[in-house]
This record gives sequence, structure tokens and C-alpha cells, in this order.
Amino acid sequence: MKTEIALLGENLRENEEIFSRAAKIINSGGLVAFPTETVYGLGANALDAAAAEKIYAAKGRPNNNPLIIHLASPEDAVKYAYPPENFYKLAEAFMPGALTVIMPKREIIPKAVTGGLDTVAVRVPSHPAARRLIECAKVPIAAPSANLSGRPSPTAWAHVLDDLDGRIDMIIGDTDCEIGLESTIVMLDEGGAVLLRPGKITLEMLESVLGKVKVDKAVTQKLNRGERPLAPGMMYRHYAPRAPLTLVKDSGMLLECAKKLGETGAVIAYDEDQAALAAAGVKNILLLGKRDDTEAHAAKLFALLRLCDKEDYDCIYAPLPKCDGLSLAVYNRIVKAAGYNIIEN
Ligand code: TXA
Ligand code: MG
Repeated sequence: MKTEIALLGENLRENEEIFSRAAKIINSGGLVAFPTETVYGLGANALDAAAAEKIYAAKGRPNNNPLIIHLASPEDAVKYAYPPENFYKLAEAFMPGALTVIMPKREIIPKAVTGGLDTVAVRVPSHPAARRLIECAKVPIAAPSANLSGRPSPTAWAHVLDDLDGRIDMIIGDTDCEIGLESTIVMLDEGGAVLLRPGKITLEMLESVLGKVKVDKAVTQKLNRGERPLAPGMMYRHYAPRAPLTLVKDSGMLLECAKKLGETGAVIAYDEDQAALAAAGVKNILLLGKRDDTEAHAAKLFALLRLCDKEDYDCIYAPLPKCDGLSLAVYNRIVKAAGYNIIEN
């Protein structure tokens, strides 16, 4: 299949033509990758089981790993789910935005979309292009991240092309994604709320609205054999570059490890550590931004992990992030990418 690349620009009429072509593809059961404020998504009509199945095939994704449905407005959630009271509190505070809420699903959402589950994940993106696409298609859009299964999520349209060229109908390309990590996922039921995946909407922000929120063990810890995460997707090896990635606790230790790297090793580092690393002769230094600029770390992480594969580095070291606020999201993605390979001291 030929993948059409349609880049959004200044010309509003041309952009509208792109959205109307994309909506036609979605309405006829095809696949369109599109930008969101978190990462690029791979969209299909969420009411069409056959279209959802094409998503799994294009990504090479296990079909028990459910998809998020994207809506134009939180008011639409009641058409597809049975939203508990807490959904409306979260919607009021954080939608549109980088938050996904899991709730019991209505019949109209096919089980092909929810990986066989009786719940559905709902998100209302804030990115104007994502919103315009949903409006034009007039259906909820099921969309996982637009990467091949197991690779880092795409934060630029070129990442989507690298992974899915020839496997999907169209890519709507725009600037790089602002947040760079996938949405926060929270599961709601009678028993309260559980955080399944941390993101830009932080645990602290959720608790300011809901009170105490539980944290699924898979957010910070490696599960034992036989244990299952509440979000099936958190089970799979994820985000990992081909080369072994090791996390270290402080700059001094990062420098010691980096000194032992050969020409083909790389270190992911904060800007403040660059000079010392360079002075020690470290060749490949990939900068995450300033130590306290967590938003920059979030925005850059996936692109840097992809770069490691492109440059074919054979060994990578990176700093272990903190566990609060948005850092918890960076921590969650990078410890998974490292396969929990952490040097403590
Ligand atoms: O920011 C995002 O959320 C992006 C953009 C495109 O919206 N999407 C995204 O989708 O990250 P995906 O498929 O890559 O990740 C969705 C995660 C998976 O771990 C999946 O297992 C979980 O959400 N999930 C979806 N529906 C679920 C459900 N009903 N119950 C439990 N987990 C669910
Ligand atoms: Mg994904």
C-alpha cells in the first residue's frame, strides 16, 4: 500500500482538504496517523471492528492490548461508556488534554477495540489537528501510538514514516508533539481510581480532584511472573532501544560509567553534565535538557531512544529520573526501556 504523507501548513483551505481526505479514509475503514499533544496516534473508526483489526496488523500489536478511543468532547463519552461521577470531575479539570479514563463500555464499542475487555479507554485530545480529524470523521477514533509495537512512541511524523510506511493509508504531519510522552491513564470504578500509566496530568493533579488515587504496581515496579498489570500494554517490552540501556543514580556515577564506553557507546545526559563528559573524552552525548527541566526530558526521551537505534550505538547509559510530578512519567518509560537495569551504587 502507498502511504500518503500530508503535511499541515499555513494554508487553512489546504489543511481542510487534508482533513476531509483523512476523514473519508477513516469512514471507509482505513488507517490515518495524526498528531496529538502527547504522541502521534494511528487512527481508525472505533465503531468498525474490521478497521480496528487493521490497526493491530499494521503495528504488529497483540490483539489483547486494547485501544484508546478519541472523542471531540467529554459529553460524547456517555454514548460509548457508562461514565461514573468521577469522570465528570476529571473532565471538568483536565479535558481536553493528556488524560485517558477507563470506564465500563457500552455495546456499541466492538470488543475488537477493547482487546476483549468490558471497559473502554476514553480520551479527548487538545491538539487542534486531532480534534479537527474527529469532527470531520464524525465517529470516535480508536488510536494507539503510531509506532511498530515495542518501539518508542513517535513524537515526530518522520518517526511514524520510519515505522509504518507502506502499512497505513495516510500520515497527517505537523510539528513535533509538545508533551512527548503518552497520556496519563486512570481507571475508574466503584472502588475509586487507579493510575495505570503516569503522564503530563500528574498523580498529584489527579488527587487534587479525586482524593486518594491508587497506583498500579506496574507503574514503578517490575512485575513478578504471573502478575498482570491493569493496562495490558504495560506488560510488553516497550520503548527499548536495541542496545542495552543502563540507568545510574547520579552524575558522578554517570561519568564513571560513560568513561568506559567505546566509540560506539552513548550517554544520555543533562545539559549541566555535558562539559565534564566531553572533557573525559566521551564521544556520543545525547542531551535531555537542563536537570530540572522535566518537560524537556519528556519531550526528548523517545526521539533520543530512536536516535540510539539509528546510530547503532551498542551500549547506552542514562540518568535515573525522580519519581514525582511529570518525572514519574519519564521514570516509568525509561525504566521499562532499560528493562529495570539500574545501577544503585
Ligand atoms: O497519549 C496517548 O494516550 C496516545 C495518543 C495517540 O492518544 N495513545 C496511546 O495509546 O498511547 P497506546 O495504545 O499506545 O496505549 C494505550 C494503553 C495500553 O497500555 C493499553 O493496554 C491501555 O492503554 N488500555 C487501553 N484500553 C484499556 C482498558 N480498557 N483497560 C486497561 N487498559 C487499557
Ligand atoms: Mg503505545
